Amino acid sequence: MKYDVKLCELVRTAEIAADTYDFTVRAPELAAAAKPGQFAHIYVPGRTLRRPISICDIDRENGTLRFVFQIRGAGTADLAKFKVGDSLDILAPLGNGFSVEPGKKALFVGGGIGVPPLLGAAKHYGENAVVAVGFRSADYAILTEDFKAAGCAVRVATDDGSLGHHGLVTDLIRDVQPDIICACGPMVMLRAVAAYAKENGIRCEISLEERMACGIGACLGCAVELYDEKGEIYMGHVCKDGPVFAAERVVL
Ligand SMILES: Cc1cc2nc3c(=O)[nH]c(=O)nc-3n(C[C@H](O)[C@H](O)[C@H](O)COP(=O)(O)OP(=O)(O)OC[C@H]3O[C@@H](n4cnc5c(N)ncnc54)[C@H](O)[C@@H]3O)c2cc1C
Ligand code: FES
Repeated sequence: MKYDVKLCELVRTAEIAADTYDFTVRAPELAAAAKPGQFAHIYVPGRTLRRPISICDIDRENGTLRFVFQIRGAGTADLAKFKVGDSLDILAPLGNGFSVEPGKKALFVGGGIGVPPLLGAAKHYGENAVVAVGFRSADYAILTEDFKAAGCAVRVATDDGSLGHHGLVTDLIRDVQPDIICACGPMVMLRAVAAYAKENGIRCEISLEERMACGIGACLGCAVELYDEKGEIYMGHVCKDGPVFAAERVVL
């Protein structure tokens, strides 16, 4: 599908966790075209480069897209100041998205602000999904009720033990035996999930984050090392070839 730039009215904003915002925009054409796991490149006035933010959820019936983002620097801090009724300049949908195969059993593994891109795909699996999510602390926990409302079994870990399991999110996945694993989060978590999937012969897709400029494969700004079919390393691009990759294709 072709991406497009649209001015989209912000119809809902909420601060849902520490420094973490939940925006819904009216964007019927983009919602009709978007797939779970794709991302948007959002213009923040005064900043040269757009900011890549995952499409957290797609509501085709109401023609809306949802984004959940954390303040990390000046751009996201400015974005958080937008109010209902303001317009956001959005280039989307970008990238490829997760495979969705309803009827199969899926395990979603998310860490921190890597959790939002998993919601749309997990909704397609509903009761056939186990969602394991890890956060720094209870203050940063997001979207657990959204996954539960979709019928998914939710397991939570926190670094400080303030919510759920005290430890790593990867401690929570060993009994699941899924057909597919979808993961997004810090590289150390992705490495552990990919290794677990490989050891157990489970198909695994991981969503990568890389600094981006154009977002459409034109500037070579988001290069990542990938393996080709012969096992040789070549440079791919997170924005164009990803952000979702078969785990075994990525040089982790
Ligand atoms: C495909 C993709 C999906 C993402 N989805 C989300 C999401 O759903 N929610 C969320 O909170 N964050 C997400 N991020 C990370 C988000 O893009 C950065 O946190 C954000 O760009 C930081 O901008 P800033 O101006 O606040 O920070 P600054 O550090 O001031 O940014 C300076 C420059 O670096 C870039 N940059 C900084 N950190 C990152 C990063 N981690 N990834 C990519 N570019 C970065 C910025 O875009 C900007 O061009 C995603 C990143 C990618 C690549
Ligand atoms: S951001 Fe320009 S090629 Fe990926």
